[in-house]
Amino acid sequence: MEVERVQAIASLSATVDDIPPEFIRSEEEQPGITTYRGPVPEIPVIDLVKVGHEDQDELVHAIATAAREWGIFQLVNHGIPEEVICKLQRVGREFFELPQEEKEKYASLTEPSKLEGYGTKLQKDLEGKKSWVDFLFHNIWPPAHVNHAAWPKIPSDYRAVNEEYAKYLVELVDKMLAILSKGIGLEDDALKKANGGEDLEFLLKINYYPPCPRPDLALGVVAHTDMSAITILVPNDVPGLQVFKDDHWFDAKYVPNAIIVHIGDQIEILSNGYYKSVLHRTTVNKEKVRMSWPVFCSPPPEAIIGPLPKLVNSDTTAKYKTKKYKDYAYCKLNKLPQ
Ligand code: SIN
Ligand code: FE2
Repeated sequence: MEVERVQAIASLSATVDDIPPEFIRSEEEQPGITTYRGPVPEIPVIDLVKVGHEDQDELVHAIATAAREWGIFQLVNHGIPEEVICKLQRVGREFFELPQEEKEKYASLTEPSKLEGYGTKLQKDLEGKKSWVDFLFHNIWPPAHVNHAAWPKIPSDYRAVNEEYAKYLVELVDKMLAILSKGIGLEDDALKKANGGEDLEFLLKINYYPPCPRPDLALGVVAHTDMSAITILVPNDVPGLQVFKDDHWFDAKYVPNAIIVHIGDQIEILSNGYYKSVLHRTTVNKEKVRMSWPVFCSPPPEAIIGPLPKLVNSDTTAKYKTKKYKDYAYCKLNKLPQ
């Protein structure tokens, strides 16, 4: 079966200045109507090496507050060299710029149950609408869970670049989980252990949002929270991420060289609601390609996730069920109650 990629639809739409009706969101969702136009509060930007932050307590406080009040923050001086990020962006972009038949070699369609591979959301969502995005998924860590067949062979340095990025990312995620653990009064390794320790899985997604003649009507990714523990995202320089806070959709500012950290559902659950997983969505751009590289860091399927016992006592009841991560994921993906 031939699948219509958004990239192909976009190149046709560019000449007609219109988009197919299945991409036109309802008025409740259209960014042209629902984006807040007043003064926009800024997602916290946290500098990992700011003077004063050698004082760990201050850094822990800044991150814990952002994770609690926003569920998202931008990190600068995060320790991943700019050059490594530029290369990650280049090889991803080069993949999406390959001829269609080359990309189709990685199509996830061949095995629909498998998440890994190149694709476009086939099914329409509950409202019968489609999203203006194509994507590529593959695991990048731990090495035992990496299936190199799902990684592009072209460009030829795709593998080396992604392996290098993964190594830096593992360090950054360890650091974030340690800080978030401290922020709720736990030992540094508490959240990492609860999420499977060294079996924490890193799944990279590359989102490719082609230019869209009607960015006021379409969405790249619809509103959701990430079901991961934590998501670390590299964007390109085209803004598009929106965050829902205080009943409004706000544009996230593009901060050069920053990495975006999303708190996912599993950290919200483990912290018994102290940290919040952030509701977000993406808009698309009229002239430019937007791309993003989220890495979803999630516990292994069999890990049992629930509010950490130390956070539940006689005055604080557990606000979430305890269940296997794979069961949580099944309910979330099939829109069933948890
Ligand atoms: C996502 O939430 O899946 C994408 C976020 C982004 O593109 O910035
Ligand atoms: Fe997301």
